[in-house]
Amino acid sequence: MMVEKFRMYKEPELYDDIYFNVARGLNKYSKEVNAIDDLVNQCGLDKRVIDFCCGTGTHLKLFSDLGYQCTGVDINNEMLRLAKIKNKNNLSIFYQGNICDIKIKNKFPIAISMYGGFNYLETEKDVKNALTNIYSILEDDGIFILDTRWAKNQPIDVMLEKRGRDLYIVRQWVLKEPDNLRDAVYKIAFIKEGADGVLMYEEHHQNFLDPIYLRTKMIDVGFKNVKIYDNFDWEKEVNKNSSTWRTVIMGRK
Ligand SMILES: C[S@@+](CC[C@H](N)C(=O)[O-])C[C@H]1O[C@@H](n2cnc3c(N)ncnc32)[C@H](O)[C@@H]1O
Repeated sequence: MMVEKFRMYKEPELYDDIYFNVARGLNKYSKEVNAIDDLVNQCGLDKRVIDFCCGTGTHLKLFSDLGYQCTGVDINNEMLRLAKIKNKNNLSIFYQGNICDIKIKNKFPIAISMYGGFNYLETEKDVKNALTNIYSILEDDGIFILDTRWAKNQPIDVMLEKRGRDLYIVRQWVLKEPDNLRDAVYKIAFIKEGADGVLMYEEHHQNFLDPIYLRTKMIDVGFKNVKIYDNFDWEKEVNKNSSTWRTVIMGRK
């Protein structure tokens, strides 16, 4: 069977079927956007946000509904195609490019990167370049919110789930080198009800990112007050013994 790479990013409707329609749902996206909005209000920032690795633009649509001016960046034109459709009734702007080197003229008070876009960065140099780039487009006092996966607590059992109208997926995270928890492969098989066998199979190579390592890298590029939270709960800070797999790191310029 052919192993595909990033098929679901070439078919953004499929991405939304899996991650928006069922797994996370509007509720989870809204919860994330509302948590960030609370923080923005506490910090007294202007409501202008740039979303790095914006995918299909769901967060930006919700920010727009709250009165934010929105900008999205993604490497993948197909994801941006659906993001633009979702945001056709607002003034959101989208750029195709790599977060490691994209140049954007404007500066922003709020930058975000949601749901593991950073986990696709392949080298420590890429992580450093992306953080430096994001720092450079922030206004003074601006905030960056980085939502990533952390492998130490990632479930590694095989998971079979109904994940769409008639779609099942079988997923497993395989840690390539157990001693180096930042290196992992995400294997996904898609099975449609009524179809003959596996519809498609893809593997994503991802780098899990230790939040303590990321905090150090953020401080190195100039971020201040860098804190790590558990899944958008601003009351719950993460330390090295924490059991979360979804860490949200916040830093200010
Ligand atoms: C797991 S999806 C997250 C999408 C969206 N943020 C969400 O919460 O649904 C990861 C996204 O990161 C994008 N991406 C991966 N590497 C990137 C890079 N170097 N620069 C810009 N976008 C990237 C992919 O195209 C994909 O849309």
